[in-house]
Amino acid sequence: MSPLFIVIEGLDGSGKSTQIEMLRDRLQSGAAACYLTAEPTELPTGKFLRSILRKEVKADPRTVAALFAADRIEHLFHPQDGLLRKLEEGYHVIASRYYFSSLAYQSEFADPGWVASLNMLAKRTLPADITIFLDLDPEISMQRISARGEEEELFETREKLAHVRESFHLAFKHFGDGENIHIIDASGDPIDISDAIWAVVEESF
Ligand code: TYD
Repeated sequence: MSPLFIVIEGLDGSGKSTQIEMLRDRLQSGAAACYLTAEPTELPTGKFLRSILRKEVKADPRTVAALFAADRIEHLFHPQDGLLRKLEEGYHVIASRYYFSSLAYQSEFADPGWVASLNMLAKRTLPADITIFLDLDPEISMQRISARGEEEELFETREKLAHVRESFHLAFKHFGDGENIHIIDASGDPIDISDAIWAVVEESF
């Protein structure tokens, strides 16, 4: 079986991290090696993005869009930790966020066609085998973010998240041609959500 590249997308607070860990455990119980990764990355481009998200550094929204695209290029092609490298080494790769996040989050502030073109290299080089969108009402998403008790990040307001959710749906429609995208309701029990994700992944074996 060739290694799978699986992307988990969703609003802030949609339970991506929990679901990624549950998916990793299920894949690994079948003796498959998994590599977990995320955007923004831990590479210098991703660290700079985190400081913007924490509002420590100010940047024009178009700079932010370009930085996310640049971080994605690093993520793809990094010689040791890159997505291509890990797949070549035989790992199933599970990524928290990929280019649909840029289309959803950056298109409000920068021309959507330009954001799409910044991300064409990633789409042409390595579209995901499976993209799962954990769909959640922005109200619930905000409640979960507040329950974490952390400082709210740049995109974490109810209005922004409502817009981002709409934009995700539009991005799947307009930028998702030829891709294997599944929208899963993320409001229920984490075990049921994990079962729904597993049903999709199993189909790909
Ligand atoms: P993440 O760490 O996944 O946040 P959370 O765990 O709260 O979902 O992502 C951090 C933020 O980065 C999140 O608000 C979404 C934003 N983001 C973009 O705006 N564009 C992108 O391309 C990516 C990958 C993330």
